[in-house]
Amino acid sequence: MRYLFLVVAACAMASCGTKEATSDESFEYEEKQTPVELGQKIFDSKGNCYSCHKPDQKIIGPSLEEIAKIYKEKNGDIVKFLKEEAEPIVDPAQYPAMKVNFAITKRMSDEELKALEAYIYSHLK
Ligand code: HEC
Repeated sequence: MRYLFLVVAACAMASCGTKEATSDESFEYEEKQTPVELGQKIFDSKGNCYSCHKPDQKIIGPSLEEIAKIYKEKNGDIVKFLKEEAEPIVDPAQYPAMKVNFAITKRMSDEELKALEAYIYSHLK
């Protein structure tokens, strides 16, 4: 009985490792890095953006240089676009191919979306 009490008490003190140990993927971003670095990481991994967007060349989607240029010229808001709160301004005719990605981007935090934006803008010429 006494032993059981000790186990329960120890468990409560250590929260049984639930919160800290399992938190979420943002854990891996905790090392110091700039928004651009974080953006690139997301772009090339869980965002899967790289499969349709290259820095300086149009493949399936427009190049990052082109997106950055047009968003700057038109004073667009990439974060809003990725939340599906703003209309496409780069290539509206191809919008359906981009739209499917909102399932991923809408689950991202503001920090992650701003990092993606910073990464795209880092390609401004
Ligand atoms: C399946 C291919 C595909 C993937 C994957 C993809 N995109 Fe796109 N993207 C497109 C196409 C096609 C367009 C052009 C249509 C348009 O402008 O909306 C586009 C356009 C854009 C635009 C310009 C939108 C505008 O205002 O016209 C941004 C910003 C963008 N993508 C960001 C991203 C980011 C960030 C990711 C990763 C989370 C991503 N894309 C993943 C195909 C894709």
